[in-house]
Amino acid sequence: MINPGTKFQTRNFGTMTVAATLAAGGQGTAYEAVASDGSAHVLKLFRPEFQTNDTRKRLETLIAQKFESENSTIVAPRELVTVNGSFGHLSTKAPGVSLEEMLTSGGFDMLDGIQMACALARAIGIIHDRGFAHGDIHANNVLIYQNGISRLFVIDFDNFAGASLPIAPCLGHNLYMAPEIRTKGLSPSIEADRFSLAVVVHELITLRHPVPSDATAAEFNDVMSQGKWLGDPTFTKRKQRPDGYPADVLNADLSRLFRLAISSKASERPTAQQWQDALYASLFNIYVCPDCTAPNIIDASKKRCVMCRKAYPLLKLRGSFGAIPLNQSSVVIGRDELGGSKQVSKRHAVIRHIGPEYRIEDCSSNGVFRETPKGWLALPKAPEIERQPVLMPGDKIRFADVECTVELIS
Ligand SMILES: Nc1ncnc2c1ncn2[C@@H]1O[C@H](COP(=O)(O)OP(=O)(O)O)[C@@H](O)[C@H]1O
Ligand SMILES: [Mg+2]
Repeated sequence: MINPGTKFQTRNFGTMTVAATLAAGGQGTAYEAVASDGSAHVLKLFRPEFQTNDTRKRLETLIAQKFESENSTIVAPRELVTVNGSFGHLSTKAPGVSLEEMLTSGGFDMLDGIQMACALARAIGIIHDRGFAHGDIHANNVLIYQNGISRLFVIDFDNFAGASLPIAPCLGHNLYMAPEIRTKGLSPSIEADRFSLAVVVHELITLRHPVPSDATAAEFNDVMSQGKWLGDPTFTKRKQRPDGYPADVLNADLSRLFRLAISSKASERPTAQQWQDALYASLFNIYVCPDCTAPNIIDASKKRCVMCRKAYPLLKLRGSFGAIPLNQSSVVIGRDELGGSKQVSKRHAVIRHIGPEYRIEDCSSNGVFRETPKGWLALPKAPEIERQPVLMPGDKIRFADVECTVELIS
């Protein structure tokens, strides 16, 4: 135990003073330490059994990576120190409270959660790309700081692992441990990180662990040892018992990644980069139910709100040509459908329907227009369908010279 007020020398930050004890954990004790310029740092001093040459070698490799200069989500040790004869390391003090605490206190919505999951996946991807594993990804080693926006930090690299390094000393956290570590005692690896990453991503999106909170210890152990995702909609008809959101708020792509990630087939788990891409894409598909305000990540298969079960509205186009129901996930609108005008292209537009959201893809030569308070405006020339306006009942649309109104199918 080091007393508050104890001073020690550092190479990079001058003289530091120990302030308060933050936590005493399995491998050592963490203290807050303040530099002479007032900046806050965290001093971690290892227990005697971890003060080994192996620990030193792993830490030297980690520090030499300078991950923090590439990505500010990563808060890794910056320097090795010896204080009162004990050996340890120093990292910048990240602001915020742990994800574990936030999961019980609340305070971020699904948009925040997905954005933070993206940042986490990016940070872990950088570590993996250099051939290393964090080794201990869990909700207590992820800090969240909020000041208008939510930011995320990854701390605690004491289980840092890599093929070129001495074996990491611990197995990781029970709730996040990959099946091969749990059942065979294998040591931390990039593949095991991918399992833990998926569990934390699940918590960031749905506000709960993939194993429901009322599972028995035997059930928990069974699921985690076999690598089964209980939320998998294609795998179980069992009634969900979530405290957070049920797994069917997810879209098909994220569900697919969870199914592959929370699995005993280590080599098939999605990479951090795959998570980052799928999470980023899902940001454009969050839909807040106008009836119950629950967020859903929508895809073409979603017909109703997952939470209140209210069916999403179905739309049709009405004009001098009659009515065109928009009841398929994509409906082609062309000259034949619109009554034969020569101005209209054979295949003029496609109306795409994802859950409750209808958007128009313009494939024409004479354009698609929408009536606005400023008159008829051409649809934006954006290649991504997500950038097109969402159609609403009452909207007036013009395909070349053919006008129509968007109406509800009652
Ligand atoms: N860089 C840091 N910034 C902010 N808080 C930290 C930092 N490092 C450690 N802590 C705090 O100290 C606690 C223990 O440190 P940690 O490195 O996670 O060790 P362990 O989990 O092995 O006890 C963390 O849960 C966190 O509250
Ligand atoms: Mg920790």
